[in-house]
Amino acid sequence: MNKKLIIPKRIVCADSENKILERSIVEITGGIISDIRKHDSGFISSFDGEIIHAEGLTLIPGFVQTHIHLCQTLFRGLADDLELLDWLQKKIFPLESSHDKNSLRASARLGIYELLTSGTTTLMDMGTLRHQEVIFEELKNSGIRAIAGKCMIDENHLYSEFKSSKEYELKYTGELASAFHNTEDGRIKYGFAPRFALSCSTELLKETKEMMHDFPGSIFHTHSSENKNECNEIRKKFGKDNVEYFDSLGVLDQNSVLAHCVHLNENETEILKNREVSVAHCPSSNLKLGSGIADMPGLIEKGIKVSLGADGAPCNNTLSIFSEMKIASLIQKPVHGPTSMDAKTIFRLATIDGANALNIGDKTGSIEVGKKADLVLLNLDSPLLSLSDEQEDIYSNIVYSATRENVIHVIIDGDWIVKDKNSLIFDEDDLFVTGKSELKKLLKKI
Ligand code: GUN
Ligand code: ZN
Repeated sequence: MNKKLIIPKRIVCADSENKILERSIVEITGGIISDIRKHDSGFISSFDGEIIHAEGLTLIPGFVQTHIHLCQTLFRGLADDLELLDWLQKKIFPLESSHDKNSLRASARLGIYELLTSGTTTLMDMGTLRHQEVIFEELKNSGIRAIAGKCMIDENHLYSEFKSSKEYELKYTGELASAFHNTEDGRIKYGFAPRFALSCSTELLKETKEMMHDFPGSIFHTHSSENKNECNEIRKKFGKDNVEYFDSLGVLDQNSVLAHCVHLNENETEILKNREVSVAHCPSSNLKLGSGIADMPGLIEKGIKVSLGADGAPCNNTLSIFSEMKIASLIQKPVHGPTSMDAKTIFRLATIDGANALNIGDKTGSIEVGKKADLVLLNLDSPLLSLSDEQEDIYSNIVYSATRENVIHVIIDGDWIVKDKNSLIFDEDDLFVTGKSELKKLLKKI
């Protein structure tokens, strides 16, 4: 059995007590954290597996991002400075609609590479309309933990070529969920992903939710309440605000993750709380598309589950959790004061709270015996970071100062994924060359 022993400088557990352990070691057996014990020379010298000497590094749980569009990574920088509906209509829907299997594969690989090398070990992906099996293949090959699914669209007044019929969407989704849900020893799960209220019929939303009963452990994942114009259209079309509309269809519960939730009325926050719905907060995307600043301190205070996501590369334009953490904190301070969204709270949003949002908090998101060994080693000993070794300053260093440059090793399910800053799965030159060539071909089709 695959056994590893990690000897780090410290361990930031993200457990319920927020323990930070010094002079401690972590044993991994068969992909699971099997022991966390005080540094023990006798135990180390007789250990019969791989010993990872990381005495200068900080061990943290792998980051969890709950809202990503891998299919859009290829389009980074091609849709700047637009508001949501224009962004979708003029750029994103035509681009996504032009994907063939090769361009989609290149896009997914670029995105997964970026996420892994910046310390994200679990993602939830929204997928795209066609060729979704390509994304699953890449998720499987990459070693990343993922909840993913094809985005479903059966109405599209913004770009009519980018849709399908309700029957086809449900059939294709059912086939994908049967093929991929709970595969790779549970590392891959299905996320049912109607794109957003304006691109799905009421029947599609309801029938999707019904289908989920056949796939326990799956997630209902959609966009909600992101942009004022979008919200106005939804109010006009359905006579309700976005979350109220979803709730009236019976699609919201503890298995639902709504991305954005920038524009909510008071009743909607009550609904999110009472139905135990999770919010995937995408602060960079919300700023870049000019959507607004979501009231995360207010939602958290109410007891609503919040986690973080970079959204897609064309509305961010990076997938690194480090910029998401920092922006999620900074944007609240002018309104809610400098003590709001402190570094420890943010670190939890990006780790255990993300795992809980996906209902896999018993498996990942913190460093505890019995959990999956989804782990990241950071080098925080740098002249560019805080020089303090005080425990409370560690969160500050990770959230406010560190970047993807400080990610040294990444392990998922006990397997090496990134070692000494190098991906063991992807070749950077190949990603770049293939990505460029696929983008060129795709742009010729538009
Ligand atoms: N709403 C519907 N589709 C999208 C998307 O791709 N990105 C964002 N940010 N919002 C959406
Ligand atoms: Zn999105």
